[in-house]
Amino acid sequence: MPDGEFVEWNDKYATGIPLIDDEHKRLVELCRDLHGRLLANQSRKDWQSDVKAALDTCVSYAASHFRTEEKLMRSANFDGYAHHKAEHDDFERRVRSMLWTYGGMTIADALKFCIFLRDWVLSHIAHEDKLYIPRLLDYLKSKGKQQ
Ligand code: FEO
Repeated sequence: MPDGEFVEWNDKYATGIPLIDDEHKRLVELCRDLHGRLLANQSRKDWQSDVKAALDTCVSYAASHFRTEEKLMRSANFDGYAHHKAEHDDFERRVRSMLWTYGGMTIADALKFCIFLRDWVLSHIAHEDKLYIPRLLDYLKSKGKQQ
């Protein structure tokens, strides 16, 4: 399967907030790159190293992205903040726990992780993130930060 078929950015996922859209695109790229590497018939040592690198990036990049969103949601007094933050926290817990177990993964487990990552990111963007768009756009517009 070409990587573009596994996951590809689509403007239907756009929030209209450039900073957030750029970060979402980066998360989609992370899923696509990892999937391509896992299918590249590398040695166990190499694909495990790719999984570890993806997990590390996930922990740091997702955390940074989540804090960006959470700060905006709080500033905008978005009433779905607590639920949204709980979703972020749950994802971070799950990914962090995988950092302890990735050494025992088979390639099938690694591909399952990749699918989990893709499905979580796309579903979260399409459903949870979509909920804050009107409030955040209003807030940013009121601050003169968004057209
Ligand atoms: Fe874009 Fe709520 O993560």
